[in-house]
Amino acid sequence: MSELHTPQAGGDATPDDDVVALLMRQHGDIRNLFDEVEAAEGDARQEAFRRLVRLLAVHETAEEEVVHPFVRRNVAGGDEVVEARLAEERSAKETLSALDDLETGDPKFLPRLRALRADVQEHARAEERYEFIHIRRNADAGALASLARGVKAAEAMAPTRPHPGVESAAANVALGPVAALMDRTRDAVRKAMGSG
Ligand SMILES: [Fe+2]
Ligand SMILES: [Fe+2]
Repeated sequence: MSELHTPQAGGDATPDDDVVALLMRQHGDIRNLFDEVEAAEGDARQEAFRRLVRLLAVHETAEEEVVHPFVRRNVAGGDEVVEARLAEERSAKETLSALDDLETGDPKFLPRLRALRADVQEHARAEERYEFIHIRRNADAGALASLARGVKAAEAMAPTRPHPGVESAAANVALGPVAALMDRTRDAVRKAMGSG
């Protein structure tokens, strides 16, 4: 497995205590879910798409609560870096809501999914390059672990694998409940980090 792990310069903490390792893993999970949605058909595509939407929602919420505030406080020019990431996140959310209006079997679904995927990939690369690298340089092991607690609390809100019976019910919910999921995620992250 080790060859599958992204090299983490200077990261001796275990992945569970290392916020950057956790977020990189979520970026990988998001890529895999895009693959799964593209490859699946019918109900399986709908169900995989719901998992993707949930993971994107909790991942971005965790970054808004955990990553961006750290970068604003601790990185020179951090405000500009964060504003650029927030603009990308807003644009991805617009693409996502245009996608969410379609049935997953609609002929327009896959082209829009691929457009979203391109936006999300570009955004993830920018985060890794302009934010995560600075978190590694500027956060000590204690800070990495505290930030990791927030991200793990968020991750618990979005299982990346299907849970029979639960996800089929979730398969029919639209973006309204996703906004509620983001609120619950925000609360969970703040509580886990001791400010909620
Ligand atoms: Fe993000
Ligand atoms: Fe991200």
